[in-house]
Amino acid sequence: MMKEKEEIKRICEEVIERIRPAKEERRKVKAVTDLIIAKINKKAVEMGIEAHAISVGSTARNTWVSGEADIDIFIMFPADVSEEYLKEKGLALAKSISDRYEERYASHPYIHAYFYDAEGTEHEADLVPCFSVKDASGLKSAVDRTPFHNEYITERIPGLEEEVLLLKRFLKSAGIYGSEQRRKGFSGYLCELLILRYSSFVELLRNASKWKYGERIDIEGRGKYKGEGKDPLIVIDPVDPNRNVAAAVSLDSFCRLIDAARDFLACPDASFFTMEKKKEMSRAEFVKLVKERGTEFVMVLFEAPDVVEDILFPQLRKAEASVTSLIERNGFRIYRSDVSVEGDKAFLIFELLVWNLPKVKKHAGPPVTSKYHSEQFKSKYKPFSFGKRIENGRYVVEVKRKYTGAVELLKSELRSCSLGKHVSESVDRGYEVLRNEEIRFFEGVGSFFSDYFSFGFSTV
Ligand code: UTP
Ligand code: MN
Ligand code: MN
Repeated sequence: MMKEKEEIKRICEEVIERIRPAKEERRKVKAVTDLIIAKINKKAVEMGIEAHAISVGSTARNTWVSGEADIDIFIMFPADVSEEYLKEKGLALAKSISDRYEERYASHPYIHAYFYDAEGTEHEADLVPCFSVKDASGLKSAVDRTPFHNEYITERIPGLEEEVLLLKRFLKSAGIYGSEQRRKGFSGYLCELLILRYSSFVELLRNASKWKYGERIDIEGRGKYKGEGKDPLIVIDPVDPNRNVAAAVSLDSFCRLIDAARDFLACPDASFFTMEKKKEMSRAEFVKLVKERGTEFVMVLFEAPDVVEDILFPQLRKAEASVTSLIERNGFRIYRSDVSVEGDKAFLIFELLVWNLPKVKKHAGPPVTSKYHSEQFKSKYKPFSFGKRIENGRYVVEVKRKYTGAVELLKSELRSCSLGKHVSESVDRGYEVLRNEEIRFFEGVGSFFSDYFSFGFSTV
């Protein structure tokens, strides 16, 4: 036991050395942040806009992992201006000071910009307009809590920054860092709260290794959020007792942390913090593996609609569920399925246990004892119907199956599924249904399948 403790300490120290931003990096990030803020504030005065910029997020709290800084700047507007005003002026202000930018839009509009410092190093920044509300429960937009989060963490995190870095890196390595829809993992703010609750990375792991479904953490003890028994993890937002900060954490992300925590504590190893890209699976390896498994892979491939991933992924999962039900309703059996976006393509993938069926299909009718329904049934399936019989007290006839192959089914019926607005529009413009060796290994497909066939993190 003693030996493991020392080993953990040694590994954590070594990892910290690698991921803690050096003085130089901290200086650069601060300089760029200050410059952006000064530019926004100056421009606001020039444009006659009553707004000012503040630094939030991990770069404001010294909790960013070296080399992975994104500078988060919030542009605060008085709470009494309209949403249209905030959007129009906020975005205009952000664009006017950016060297290069993209407009992004999930639940809230913002600008993702790129800045270059004196040495020409690129820095990415999120410039987000928000309302300066009185307290976090009186929000006008989805992001108005952020300045309160910033205040809460900035006051309490000093001295624990390295613990946050270890946690972020550990989660990244396990593939569960980030609350985006694609990942459904742990956000930066959630990491900071978990560290505040347990005081250290290792103490958090010790607790996480014993977490149960519905685990509840309420630092201030004032939580009102109940949920409906559907959240695997509840972490009450200290600045808004009605909100669960861990609402985006999926059951599988929650369980991955529990599992990785147990593994690391039992066999501490630096590999739990590495970001090595897994070897991409080749097409030949894939084809060979499929043959060994004896399943059938079917890919539904189309152009990725031009919307942000936080909008696209829920639609893809909806499409996955709806196509799953189409396939199973037609008698085929799915073993496993997934969705992804790689480059400008989106796809659904289905691994099937049963993908071919005979022409004959049993159609069950009413119980013979139900006189009315029996008459209806018999007039529909005239005496010459094939295979008409009684089985277990019910009428049965044999009918011809419309689709004897899953691929054929998808080619004809995909459009009848509810796919979500943007996915549906894209599918209407055209899609392909590919099976096994027909699946093309364009950029990203190889690493998709290497993830698909193995656990999302590298354990030794
Ligand atoms: P980030 O996603 O940048 O997280 O959001 P972070 O805590 O800085 O962690 P890392 O180190 O970059 O991964 C920063 C803050 O801005 C808010 C988030 O809620 C978070 O508090 N934010 C950012 C929004 O609310 N909306 C946005 O569109 C962007
Ligand atoms: Mn950030
Ligand atoms: Mn950000």
